[in-house]
Amino acid sequence: MRLSVIGCGYLGAVHAAAMADLGHDVVGIDVDEAKVQSLSAGRAPFHEPGLPEVLEAGLASGRLRFSTDMADAADADVHFIAVGTPQTAGSDAADLTYLEAAVASLLPHLKPGALVAGKSTVPVGTAERLAERIEAAAEGAELAWNPEFLREGFAVKDTLHPDRFVYGVRSQRAADLLDDVYRQAIDAGTPRIVTDYATAELVKTAANAFLATKISFINVMSQVADATGADVTVLADAIGHDARIGRRFLNAGLGFGGGCLPKDIRAFAARGEQLGLADSFAFLREVDAVNLRQRERLVAAAVEALGGSVTGARIALLGVTFKPDSDDVRDSPALDVAERLHELGAEVVATDPYGLPNALRRFPALVTASSTEDAVRGADLVVLATEWREYRDLDPAATAVLARHARIIDGRNVLDPAAWRAAGWEYRGLGRR
Ligand code: UDX
Repeated sequence: MRLSVIGCGYLGAVHAAAMADLGHDVVGIDVDEAKVQSLSAGRAPFHEPGLPEVLEAGLASGRLRFSTDMADAADADVHFIAVGTPQTAGSDAADLTYLEAAVASLLPHLKPGALVAGKSTVPVGTAERLAERIEAAAEGAELAWNPEFLREGFAVKDTLHPDRFVYGVRSQRAADLLDDVYRQAIDAGTPRIVTDYATAELVKTAANAFLATKISFINVMSQVADATGADVTVLADAIGHDARIGRRFLNAGLGFGGGCLPKDIRAFAARGEQLGLADSFAFLREVDAVNLRQRERLVAAAVEALGGSVTGARIALLGVTFKPDSDDVRDSPALDVAERLHELGAEVVATDPYGLPNALRRFPALVTASSTEDAVRGADLVVLATEWREYRDLDPAATAVLARHARIIDGRNVLDPAAWRAAGWEYRGLGRR
């Protein structure tokens, strides 16, 4: 099929390359010339495992190209809208400027029967509002809402082999067209939910809100654990055995960040409030607040570990990204902690396998080290802030030799406290004895 993907950020670049991998003829459209040039040369503008390979294969096959000119999308049968819907400056609502601009510039190029498939995360009610304009733009043109659930670090795999497809449609024909796009996965038995626009939009925001709630729930349990001498990791394992609860997304620690969960739950709460459901959405505001407090808790633990003040102390920060296998520092708990400790007068030396260039763009005063050894050498305190594999696998004895004081705060609860204590470390987790 001929497809266009409008917006080649995280979601769109991955979607375009993955659709070409499925055998479709794909053009990715973006207003950012530099991004289009980079993608056209086979360079992914961010670190994502597996993306360079599908990008190169797509370009080499001639099935994938990128352009800044919307006219290049004119012959597509399906147009995927994958533009960003960031948080509006000064408010929690989603900023739909890019979405509006993308739709406005696409309308004159729609051919009869074209399907526009929205993938961006939007406030419920958005598709309903856009549908009429799309239907009026060309004979038989229609809109579907087809949310995306990909995770950074697994984006290609999640796009090609999702847990489920969700189609918000007004006609069987629109559902059939999307089935044709995703034929391989549909034939392989991937569940597919065909529903109305509002439900499709809500599936995405509800899923994110639920995941965020799970994380904040376990982080509250980590506070109870700290107050009572219990161990939140054992608690999570034990409650996670109940299949109704499940163990995933119950890792207590620095909490969630990134380009999706934080802004999506705020936008969802703002939309709930608009719909007159402020009382009911208060819990989601609290989920956000609990999450942000985890960062303060870690800073307080650092102050305590250093005897009441971090001023002048050298603190090695392991990890700056919001999660491992990503170079993304958007709303990164790790980087927030670095900034706060720096403000309090600590000498923070940060290291990260991929995130340092982005971290320095956001926080130019950050002192960086290109290896874990260099970061830890001479440190009064080590803070594990992002659970990259290489930090989980650190040898406590070899690391103790480098530090000035063998003190560590495990901000992600991923190290074995007994092993670290046996090697002479003063170990603290968040909610772990
Ligand atoms: C998330 C959703 O998982 C995905 O479905 C949606 O499409 C976009 O948002 P992503 O932002 O890539 O994906 O990250 P995810 O793996 O979900 O992690 C989000 C944050 O939660 C990270 O900062 C992670 O460290 C944190 N987290 C996750 C926890 O603190 N504890 C956990 O148990 C799990």
